[in-house]
Amino acid sequence: MIKLEGVTKIFPRQKVPAVKNLSMEVAEGEICVLVGPSGCGKTTTMKMINRLIEPTEGKIYVNGRDVAEVDPIKLRQNIGYVIQEIGLFPHMTIAENIATVPREKGWPEDKIQERVDVLLELVGLDPEVYRNRKPADLSGGQRQRVGVARALAADPPILLMDEPFGAVDPITRAHLQNEFLSLQKKMKKTIMFVTHDIDEAIKMGDKIAVMRAGELVQYDTPDRILSAPADDFVVALVGHNRALKRLNLVKAGDVARKDVPVAKGTCSLEEAKKLLQADNLPVIVIVDGLNRPRGVAYKEELLRRNGQAHLQEIMTPLESVADEDATLYDALSTMLNYGERYVVVMNHNKEFQGIITFGYLLELMKENGS
Ligand SMILES: Nc1ncnc2c1ncn2[C@@H]1O[C@H](COP(=O)(O)OP(=O)(O)OP(=O)(O)O)[C@@H](O)[C@H]1O
Ligand SMILES: [Mg+2]
Repeated sequence: MIKLEGVTKIFPRQKVPAVKNLSMEVAEGEICVLVGPSGCGKTTTMKMINRLIEPTEGKIYVNGRDVAEVDPIKLRQNIGYVIQEIGLFPHMTIAENIATVPREKGWPEDKIQERVDVLLELVGLDPEVYRNRKPADLSGGQRQRVGVARALAADPPILLMDEPFGAVDPITRAHLQNEFLSLQKKMKKTIMFVTHDIDEAIKMGDKIAVMRAGELVQYDTPDRILSAPADDFVVALVGHNRALKRLNLVKAGDVARKDVPVAKGTCSLEEAKKLLQADNLPVIVIVDGLNRPRGVAYKEELLRRNGQAHLQEIMTPLESVADEDATLYDALSTMLNYGERYVVVMNHNKEFQGIITFGYLLELMKENGS
């Protein structure tokens, strides 16, 4: 989808190339994250793809076509671009900014207005409030969201995103990353995404391209970058807690154990004890009639009790829970926050999906290790 072949850029009056003999390919529907220190050539690489900068040497293909032969304006209409410094047009309203490419393409006005509102909603800005404001009347993070909305406006198959979430606080950033990833699940766009932040790269990337001084040091999956860094530079970039970071790569829903005791609150303690027998889990999960977890009964508590009571009488309301899309890192963090050895995993309908225990987590990481 995007292919670079021996691409070099030497700016006028510069001795060292900003980008040096870069060859790589971004597959259709994938997010490739360019990561590396300031000045290593990330922005230059992006700008060569949509011809804001022309390479000194080498070829770039988009959709199999040599971009040097495509009209730059047409090219850019099909490549959404989130500019590093946001780059909204200050004299235009937010709505007009977002509408730039659809207008160029001659969309009818009602369709444009509708699209603007959909996109504003999408990036978490109320259209009623923000539509008619000017960029100066927004915070940096809000402007950045408008930048993302603008890049998506005409629904281009390719997106170049240069530090799209750089200007926001960590909480908003995590939120925007999650929103964007779930959006990407549906959009399946081919994306080149730039960041300084290796954790963002690991989270967002199907592939990561580590760059240093204009050169590609390693191009691999996040898991390989963490488990088999190419050299000391990559080791230093990913930091020493690589094992911990790998927890970010696995979704709780994908590994949650389903073979665990689940019972209704009306289940008697005697029956519940039978469920426990073959298992070393710390809890029984108590669900309602729609298979939605309501709480847990601790194994120790259950074993201490006898008589005719029911599970609901020893139920502890649910706290240590994770969404199926949460990562194992989130799951571990939740366990630590609540001082528990387990986390209950639910799907979007709040139905029970399984459980992850601390011991199971350790096993999973051992299995995945290399
Ligand atoms: N128009 C230009 N003329 C001369 N040199 C340039 C020009 N644009 C960029 N450079 C140089 O090329 C190198 C790569 O710049 P680039 O903007 O691609 O880096 P980057 O990886 O995006 O950095 P950052 O993370 O700080 O955004 C830098 O040394 C920069 O100074
Ligand atoms: Mg840059």
